[in-house]
Amino acid sequence: MNKITPAVFLEKKQRGEKLVLLTAYDYLLAKIEDEVGIDGILVGDSLGMILMGKENTLPVSVDIMVHHTSCVSGAVKNALVISDMPFLSYQISAEEALRNAGRLVVEGGAQAVKLEGPGSKFGTAIRKIIDAGIPVMGHIGLTPQFVLEIGGYKVQGRSEECRERLKREAKELEELGCFAIVLECIPKDLAKEITESLNIPTIGIGAGPDCDGQILVCYDILGWGKSRFAKTYFDAKAEIKKAFEQFVEEVRNGKYPEEKHSYT
Ligand code: KIV
Repeated sequence: MNKITPAVFLEKKQRGEKLVLLTAYDYLLAKIEDEVGIDGILVGDSLGMILMGKENTLPVSVDIMVHHTSCVSGAVKNALVISDMPFLSYQISAEEALRNAGRLVVEGGAQAVKLEGPGSKFGTAIRKIIDAGIPVMGHIGLTPQFVLEIGGYKVQGRSEECRERLKREAKELEELGCFAIVLECIPKDLAKEITESLNIPTIGIGAGPDCDGQILVCYDILGWGKSRFAKTYFDAKAEIKKAFEQFVEEVRNGKYPEEKHSYT
């Protein structure tokens, strides 16, 4: 299996091969994802909600992202490791954006970064990061770092005005040099239109089947998913609960440890 790079993402789009991505936040799951041949592993700032139990992704810091990115990158041989730029790590200035993207690469071992929002707001930051040699993945549609402005996690691109804006934003991100764009929670016909209008691949999450690839939060396929687009492939949540219940019971009733679990 060959190392996946942003150039491979482009080649796969040109060949009509679907790209498959999952999030990972730790060594153990990242290693399994890499072993099954996933194209890209995103260390998403969704870890703020999923691992840290926060209400949204806004409290996630660059230090936290660097820590989790280094856990993931240490496990991965082939997949492209993409690290999310968290809230306020690229919004303040292009210089800070490059410094923070650099930390994710140098300290975390990321091979690309992702940031949310349009080129009209963050174009200078995006260009500065790309000019320094760090590939950037865009992210439009539902952008969770704008949750306070949006007022919740809602499907985007339903009105004609919003559809036109999203089409424009996708084109602008391509022109800025992004190597791929995540399309989150938009109607499937809009995602199809955007995908067909771009040379770079689109990676959908809740954006229908016509994107060039799909990404899901790893826990959304392991029994923790609540959104409409999540699918449980294995109910790890239920199985883990069963194992914990059994351990509690066996310690309490003296069944664990057995003779073979003890040293003489
Ligand atoms: O943070 C994240 O996990 C993401 C994906 C949902 C695309 O941005």
